[in-house]
Amino acid sequence: MLSDKVLDTLPHEIRRRVEPYVEAVQLMTQTNNAKVLRAMAPSGIRGLILQRGKQGVPTTMPSNHRVYFDWTYPNDQPEMRELYQRAKEGQWNGDDLPWHIDVDPENPEKPIIPRHFMDYDALRARGIKLTDLEERRLNASVASWMLSQFLHGEQGALFAAAQVTEAVQFFDGKLYGSTQVVDEGRHVEVFHRYLDSKMNKLYQINDNLFVIIDALIQDSRWDVKFLGMQIMVEGLALGAFGTLYQMTGEPMLKQLLKMVIQDEARHVHYGVIALRDHIRQELSDAERREREDWAFEVALLMRNRFLSFEVYEEWFEHKLTRKEWAQFVTDSPGFALFRQVMFNRLVPNLREIGLMSDRIKPHYERAGLMKYYGGASATQLSGEQLLADLDAA
Ligand SMILES: [Fe+2]
Ligand SMILES: [Fe+2]
Repeated sequence: MLSDKVLDTLPHEIRRRVEPYVEAVQLMTQTNNAKVLRAMAPSGIRGLILQRGKQGVPTTMPSNHRVYFDWTYPNDQPEMRELYQRAKEGQWNGDDLPWHIDVDPENPEKPIIPRHFMDYDALRARGIKLTDLEERRLNASVASWMLSQFLHGEQGALFAAAQVTEAVQFFDGKLYGSTQVVDEGRHVEVFHRYLDSKMNKLYQINDNLFVIIDALIQDSRWDVKFLGMQIMVEGLALGAFGTLYQMTGEPMLKQLLKMVIQDEARHVHYGVIALRDHIRQELSDAERREREDWAFEVALLMRNRFLSFEVYEEWFEHKLTRKEWAQFVTDSPGFALFRQVMFNRLVPNLREIGLMSDRIKPHYERAGLMKYYGGASATQLSGEQLLADLDAA
């Protein structure tokens, strides 16, 4: 790409300042669907260029959806009613987690993420030698970064869950949605408490996560909110929580994630039920194509862009280019596993709701994501099964 060539000719200090903007423009022009571009571009500008999530002040976003009332209170969706029952029985109190456990993020005996999460040999090959203590500290930074993004994602989930509860037409869906609002509130509570009292470090929201949240909170179409939040972001969350659950040597965090994963499995399940019939039967071909392209763009955003640039800026801004850092993170074993678990969850759900037509499959193939196509969707997997799979892996 021309802009990459131009970047390569710039002195490091100038490149460092210009590169994020070049990336933002590349990102916003990668879609071929003009409607998707129009829908995503304003969020892209707010998130990537203006960095609205990083100004240290609260953000306000207008919401444009219609609130749907039904004064007849029908029992209209048995599968959602069943999820509502399970959600009520599955409620738990964040205070009951083992908060008494002492956590030292730099303790090599009980690492939040294991040493081999990052490939330090690859960093050495680029001329960067870290001491043992520095490697442990960098690992702790990456762990704090991931947990901070979970927290920010949970805040997005809390508000999106409230919005979809208002917008959904199924009354059983509204009852179920009320439990998800409580779940997400609890997730905000426990992740924030963990970061605050155990990690002592909170990173700002990643620009790309901000773009996705901004786009779906402001979109007026209820099904796009569902798709963005209940399928894409929840899929991302399940992948990330699952990877960390598998890898962590810190018992308090493991218990916290175990509880959160069981809630999240219900959330994705709900998203699949709500969208399946709507996308397959009610949308026109053009509308379905637009959702399909939108989902693919967001999938690419999730695959390519959650690369801890906030950690890079803190640690390596003067030593590596963003491109070198992106490669280092992409190749690291921890992030590779994260992508695998995430897409293993996400792609079968897209198939289930009807957003994997023969038209889009070659795009997923080129992105290396078709290998996840045959997996189990959220409707076939309970939270307990998910955890059992993670324990067995
Ligand atoms: Fe959540
Ligand atoms: Fe959730």
